[in-house]
Amino acid sequence: MNSQAKLRWGILGAARINQQLMPAIVTAQNSELVAISSRRPGAAEETLSLYAPDQKNVTIYDNPDALLADDSIEAVYIPLASKEHAEWTIKAIEQGKHVLCEKPMALTVTDIDAIISAADKHQVQVMEGFMYRFHPQHARIKEIIDSGMIGDVRTVRSSFAYPMQPARHYRINDTIENGSGAMWDIGCYAIHAARLPFYNEQPKAVSAMAKHIDTGADISCNGIIDFHDGKYAQFDFGFEHARRAEYEVIGSTGGLKCHNVWAKQAETPVISWWTESGQQCQETLPLANHFCLEIEHFSNCVINNTPPQLSLQDARTNCQIITAVLESIQQGKHIHF
Ligand SMILES: NC(=O)c1ccc[n+]([C@@H]2O[C@H](COP(=O)([O-])OP(=O)(O)OC[C@H]3O[C@@H](n4cnc5c(N)ncnc54)[C@H](OP(=O)(O)O)[C@@H]3O)[C@@H](O)[C@H]2O)c1
Repeated sequence: MNSQAKLRWGILGAARINQQLMPAIVTAQNSELVAISSRRPGAAEETLSLYAPDQKNVTIYDNPDALLADDSIEAVYIPLASKEHAEWTIKAIEQGKHVLCEKPMALTVTDIDAIISAADKHQVQVMEGFMYRFHPQHARIKEIIDSGMIGDVRTVRSSFAYPMQPARHYRINDTIENGSGAMWDIGCYAIHAARLPFYNEQPKAVSAMAKHIDTGADISCNGIIDFHDGKYAQFDFGFEHARRAEYEVIGSTGGLKCHNVWAKQAETPVISWWTESGQQCQETLPLANHFCLEIEHFSNCVINNTPPQLSLQDARTNCQIITAVLESIQQGKHIHF
């Protein structure tokens, strides 16, 4: 494949999130939407007409297996229900497809390990879809941290929440084991963002508390991750709170804040920082669409055979922390790694 190529994408599932991802695939210079599947009659056609109405020659399949058997498709985007992610990621890999899988990539570390083995065996690229990380505001934050301006990172605090509306209750109508609830929906972001300055570090222990509802799903949680030597990441998330998607990084000589982690294309991204010596600044960054940037990045990685920014090891560490947090909540004690 050369650098002028367009990666040929298929989408497994007529999910709501296609509202964001389908236009991203259609508009990315290095990508082409060639197929979509849905197990519900008419749903793929409707999704296509809503989110990519001008797109011609998109093949519609009535099941994901049929789409995966199409040799002309090079990469698939998987927005199926969370409990289906690992199964279909592995099936796609076994058909030689590169995979961008929505978060969470899997509900167990065992499944992530199976994905890592399959990707290695079939020599394909696989990435978990944490789209927010492709917004340039996080690269700027990493630049500030790496410059030493706020000193050694000691504490991170991340908060992700919104008041859940009745129309979204399908997200909490099953058990956590089946991928339902706040942890798999937004908690995975809170933990992922809290790990940002500790990206390459393995956690030492976790501790958390949560509120559950009758279905068995969690709807709010507060927790802490110990990254050794006085470095801690605190996180909270929930569906009974005012809307927030933010994180703070506190260092030995200063701190910074990302005010809107889920900054949409039309929302001005703002970050602020301060130092012990009295400097303080609020930076406004250019508008960006993290979904488009995510698609462009992944297509480039496949086309040029370079590793994705979010590695499978990162997906494994996130899943390892999530499952340990769930264990801590269930057992009411710290979990050590
Ligand atoms: N990155 C982000 O910003 C973001 C935002 C939201 C969600 N997500 C993630 O994306 C994934 C999909 O979330 P979503 O809310 O878009 O899911 P969703 O609309 O519930 O769709 C999930 C899957 O369920 C099937 N489905 C859809 N509507 C259905 C219905 N009415 N009855 C039965 N089955 C139905 C579809 O498969 P078929 O078409 O094959 O039936 C679809 O692919 C989740 O893993 C979520 O965590 C990511």
